[in-house]
Amino acid sequence: MWCSVAECLFIFSAVVQGIRLESLTVPLEQRPVYQWRTASAGPGRNIPLGDAFQNIDLQWFGTLDVGTPPQKFSVVFDTGSTDLLIPSTACTPQAGCVNTKTRAFNDKISPTAKNLTRRWSVTWGTGVGVSVTQESCSGQVFTDTVSLAGYTIKDQSLGLITKQTPTLFGNTELEGIIGMGFKRSSSIGGTPFLHTLIEKQKLPPIFSMYLTPKAIGNAQLTIGGIDESKHQGKINYLPIEAGRGYWNVSTGFQKIAVNGVDVSELSVKYAIADSGTSNMVAPARDAMAIYAMIHKNITMLDRRGAFGVDCSLVTQLKAVITITMGGVPYTIPTKEFIVGPFPGRPGMCQTLINSPKGVDFWIIGGSLLKYYYSVWDIGNRKLGFATTAHSPQA
Ligand SMILES: *[C@@H]1O[C@H](CO)[C@@H](O)[C@H](O)[C@H]1NC(C)=O
Ligand SMILES: *[C@@H]1O[C@H](CO)[C@@H](O)[C@H](O)[C@H]1NC(C)=O
Ligand SMILES: *[C@@H]1O[C@H](CO)[C@@H](O)[C@H](O)[C@H]1NC(C)=O
Repeated sequence: MWCSVAECLFIFSAVVQGIRLESLTVPLEQRPVYQWRTASAGPGRNIPLGDAFQNIDLQWFGTLDVGTPPQKFSVVFDTGSTDLLIPSTACTPQAGCVNTKTRAFNDKISPTAKNLTRRWSVTWGTGVGVSVTQESCSGQVFTDTVSLAGYTIKDQSLGLITKQTPTLFGNTELEGIIGMGFKRSSSIGGTPFLHTLIEKQKLPPIFSMYLTPKAIGNAQLTIGGIDESKHQGKINYLPIEAGRGYWNVSTGFQKIAVNGVDVSELSVKYAIADSGTSNMVAPARDAMAIYAMIHKNITMLDRRGAFGVDCSLVTQLKAVITITMGGVPYTIPTKEFIVGPFPGRPGMCQTLINSPKGVDFWIIGGSLLKYYYSVWDIGNRKLGFATTAHSPQA
């Protein structure tokens, strides 16, 4: 089964979620700037990641323990958001929890769980005022013990999902989401898990991701360091504009080429790196400029900003997309260009770049991240990329 458009693109597209949140909910708190420990990063601790694969690599997830005794959840490590959200056993099928394959957290059997009796809700989607599917979930703020990679944090705030749109995590094995963004306050309240972890365990403020295509496997997240065995050559670091909490590659984002030919004028000069977005997102003008360079028959398929082409053309398409950042080209190979048959439009295949209404930034998602080793250096506000054994030849 192919994922629906919403599943492929926006289920975890927390960049979009985050931007909506800023305008929808709680005013941002002013916090003193935290003095990050500047010790150099060591090897860190590794967490193996599984690949939620439905004919394309959708998401990479690992195991998180919550409660006493620990209850285990498969969570997506999402650099585009800051909240920790897991399903609650209080969420019924009537409240949208229809996936029978997934586990839910039972706070009744965890004596350390504390119900803060405060509700939270998040909504994300692809447009305001158009009748499209909007994914949302809501629930109760709790605190409990949370463990990851052998580190344990007590009284961590987390959002239990008690109500959701039935398509929230699609029909995947994914259960929750853990925000790995820069922002030091979570929209559900409290300090995000990543930041609590770094501060309380005095870890170097850095993590690294080895996201891989399914055929390669062995995907891995490293907390507090860099796994030198997973990359080749030196790491190219790009400065991050972290003001709004995103991994925003601003000055380092230079140009995009299609089959070796530069796209003449990009409408924005920055891109957000988001491990929670499966594919690529771009402003409509840029997406259309790129598609025009590949094949004239690629058209917008729906108002959510999905594009596609007649599947009979797929084998003829050559679409190597190269993004130059910090002077180094990063390549998305041709085989990533088609993300699958488009639901509800027999014979049409969906293409790599999506452009939901109102999106005026680039999002670099899994389609690129899975071909490079990435180092997310919070302390030094920089994002590094290095080649791996499976990186495309430049
Ligand atoms: C948490 O407290 C609220 C308010 O008292 C209650 O409605 C809710 O059922 C409690 N538990 C969960 C899992 O939400
Ligand atoms: C990213 O950085 C650019 C340039 O510094 C800025 O204009 C833009 O608002 C930022 N975008 C987000 C979503 O943080
Ligand atoms: C490409 O578009 C043209 C013009 O709309 C159309 O005549 C042609 O059949 C299309 N080709 C395919 C394979 O869809």
